[in-house]
Amino acid sequence: MQNRASIKNSIDSSAKPEALREINFPPSFLWGAAISSYQTEGANYNSDWCAFEKEKKIQEAALAANHYKLFLQDFKLAKELNLGAVRLSFEWARISPNPDVYLEEEIGHYKEVIQTLKALGLKPFVTLHHFTNPVWFSESCGFESSKNIDFFLKYLKKIVEEFKDDINNWLIFNEPLVYVYNGYICGRWPPGVKSIGTARKVLRNITSAYIDGYKEIKSIYRESDTDSYVSLVNHIRKFSPCPNFNFGQNSVSSYIKDKLSNFDIINYLTKKSCLDYLALNYYCKEYVKFKGLVGAECVHQFHKERKNYLGWYIYPKGLYELLKRLKKYNLPVYVMENGTAEAEDYLYKEYLVSHLKCVAEAISEGVDIKGYFWWSLIDNFEWDYGFGPKFGLIDINYNTFERRIKPFAYTYAKICKENKIEL
Ligand code: BGC
Repeated sequence: MQNRASIKNSIDSSAKPEALREINFPPSFLWGAAISSYQTEGANYNSDWCAFEKEKKIQEAALAANHYKLFLQDFKLAKELNLGAVRLSFEWARISPNPDVYLEEEIGHYKEVIQTLKALGLKPFVTLHHFTNPVWFSESCGFESSKNIDFFLKYLKKIVEEFKDDINNWLIFNEPLVYVYNGYICGRWPPGVKSIGTARKVLRNITSAYIDGYKEIKSIYRESDTDSYVSLVNHIRKFSPCPNFNFGQNSVSSYIKDKLSNFDIINYLTKKSCLDYLALNYYCKEYVKFKGLVGAECVHQFHKERKNYLGWYIYPKGLYELLKRLKKYNLPVYVMENGTAEAEDYLYKEYLVSHLKCVAEAISEGVDIKGYFWWSLIDNFEWDYGFGPKFGLIDINYNTFERRIKPFAYTYAKICKENKIEL
């Protein structure tokens, strides 16, 4: 990679602070921001999340950020911020409100979305499943039943065939482990199940849907002139043993958590040759205390890392450490989500710059990182936390749906434009 040496030099010069001015990124580095359909579009009334909000009486996404109607404005702002790519998802429940129905007008809507991105010079990365399902799919047991995998594959085939000329980058699932953990182990998300046995079944079915979906996409593109790049987005965290209790046992739990939730799925899918690149989301560090082998989160007031608005431990070095461990896979890497929710603008800026320095450092040490996506482009519905946490580069006034670029986003815009970070 041409710029590796220059990045390395700028980082090496950190020993002499007066000489350290900037870190350059590789020339083709892709700068982006991510969103998901349910969290931003609004009026996704056929989705299982919508039914769950009503049933559990939690805050409703309702019109969310009204992105369904205001996507043009949002993408123009993304362009103004010098982004080169946007990651978004298609809402399966919107497109297919019944198992045998694919609404042409909704497919048409997403065509307009993709054409708008492309006209603005923004590369689309599309996620097919970002935590939500059509109600009919959930009601027939969703991914709990292996028989239902075919419903998902039918949707995947339909969409990929429709969009193959305009989209190259497909992310079949977002964070399967997060989905399974929240929906089937702790039951905070739909369908609100708490059963390890069911969770294992769902994960097995999602993994198999992924593998079949990967093959299906490859066969669709085989007959077309375009290339396809297919992956699954995996959430990675820095796990550390909780220092204050039983350190020995905590270390074992932390090691196992890291192995299972950070790398297991990547190991499995790379062995099957089903990942064209690694797509990773990194936010924070988690302290682990022993509670059975897999361990539990340890929240302790004496940890020295800063916490964000949601109480997550901010630890940029964790991103560097985890990225370094990806080198052995010999695959291109995208940071598909990285971001924070804060109460003060300067904290976003601190988070952004400190994490980007870690990305640059990992590149300088040979990790083939192709792009970085901030989560998220606009403020949005943060699942069971509702509208409180604000991750966006762009602020949303939920009464008027007015958009406003946040001050820290201009720092990101400058970095994107210059392809370097000034120190
Ligand atoms: C998810 C997003 C979510 C973000 C912040 C990611 O794990 O993909 O949907 O909003 O984390 O919690």
